Amino acid sequence: MRTSAHFLSTFLCALHVLLHAGMCSVIVPLWPLQMRPMMMQEHRLNSPSRISDPVVRILLRTWRPFHPRSLQLQHAKMTGSGECSAGSNSLPIINVRGTHYQVGFETGRLMKEHIQMFYAGFAPMHQKFLPFIKTEKGGRIFEGYLGVVRQELPQYLEEIRGLSDGSGVPFEQIFLMHIRSEISLILRQGHYETPACTTVFVNRDDAEIVGHNEDNDPGMKAHSYIVAAEIVADNGTLVEKFTAFTYPGTLPGNAFSFNRAGVVFTVNSESPLTVPVDKIPRYILNRALLAAECPEDFERIINMGPGLAQGCSINVVFTRHPNDSIKMRNYELLGSFDSTLHTVVDGSVTFRYDPDKPNNEGNGFMYHFNKYERIRVKQNPENIVSSIHRQNRAKQFPLPTSASDVLAFLGDTADTDYPVFRTPTEKDGGCTIATALFDLKAMTMAVYRDNPKTSAPLLTLPIPKLF
Ligand SMILES: *[C@@H]1O[C@H](CO)[C@@H](O)[C@H](O)[C@H]1NC(C)=O
Ligand SMILES: *[C@@H]1O[C@H](CO)[C@@H](O)[C@H](O)[C@H]1NC(C)=O
Repeated sequence: MRTSAHFLSTFLCALHVLLHAGMCSVIVPLWPLQMRPMMMQEHRLNSPSRISDPVVRILLRTWRPFHPRSLQLQHAKMTGSGECSAGSNSLPIINVRGTHYQVGFETGRLMKEHIQMFYAGFAPMHQKFLPFIKTEKGGRIFEGYLGVVRQELPQYLEEIRGLSDGSGVPFEQIFLMHIRSEISLILRQGHYETPACTTVFVNRDDAEIVGHNEDNDPGMKAHSYIVAAEIVADNGTLVEKFTAFTYPGTLPGNAFSFNRAGVVFTVNSESPLTVPVDKIPRYILNRALLAAECPEDFERIINMGPGLAQGCSINVVFTRHPNDSIKMRNYELLGSFDSTLHTVVDGSVTFRYDPDKPNNEGNGFMYHFNKYERIRVKQNPENIVSSIHRQNRAKQFPLPTSASDVLAFLGDTADTDYPVFRTPTEKDGGCTIATALFDLKAMTMAVYRDNPKTSAPLLTLPIPKLF
């Protein structure tokens, strides 16, 4: 472990200030745990809203973000569950401002080492996805999804192009990463989509909480980062502003995030048996939802044509909604094969706790896993085993009423084969990449990279109340 003084000097030496017209990007690296108090302060000094002030057209950049060389060494040694603990004590944050293409490009450029390292090591990409799209059927499916995105949400295709140009990873691979849920299902190799994520809502007079474990492939953990972005139109108007935990070389919006309108959302993957082609890939729809500023925007996007491909569940809080009873919601979404319906949508509300009502889900609390609870559809049995275990474990806990209750559950490892806080076991390959605790009374997002039951958050960001 290095000393504070050493880190301070490394930090100062590592800052490069470049002028960059029209875009503003900052990396705030976070150092190991004993440095937390100082770095928290650093972080507040450089809070996203201040850095991304349009007047400050400065690009700050670390010399070598996140020490990629030591990371490589670490990687060489990593196997199995070891990989799932890599990156536990650091998390890069980048601030980017520009058009959709520029934001993609800057993200790709700043996170280049991480993105390249992750893509090179992501076996399903090379062993399954790339060979599949060389087949006639695979090529048709790839072109089908691409055509829909080009037609319906071209701005996000621009972000993907930027990500590819900035990171140097071919466009084909980056787009494939955005349809990996769909392709995995079509190949009937669901185990490539690690079933992922646990969400807990608490809605009471004294506590408004969303807790979320982001679970995925262990190889993603050390290469993930937070993107704080401001997207501007060609005429200079700010069109989107959000902060999102982001997978390497993937658009933000698939994990946990908040935007300038105080809309907080987290995503759980789902495992239907089949998936429609020629629809909007779920990663792209999740990205589009980052722009939603009110329930009406949100519902317009989830119902847009031609509809969603792979299903998912979205947990969302409209923190500025005037009615505390209906601002916390879960939407289950399923790709539709019925030409008269774009997407099967089932929305549900976690109401403000009412002591006169039974203590059922929806009355002051709710859990969501990677399993449809309300939409009736055949699910891939292999992919819901962990969800069933996590759900059964939740039933053994008292009703969650506070942040510490939520963290105790999200950090639970009592079920050793299928723990809630996941590190790969013989039966379950999932890895908890990060945990988010949204405290919507304090308006903060705390991010844990280690077990949230036994560790402190690595960082806490304010969720802006007003823009
Ligand atoms: C700038 O572009 C945005 C997005 O295309 C549009 O909504 C807005 O009206 C434009 N503003 C001006 C001043 O032209
Ligand atoms: C808030 O929503 C609940 C549930 O829909 C409703 O019963 C209640 O009347 C609403 N409160 C206000 C002040 O509109």
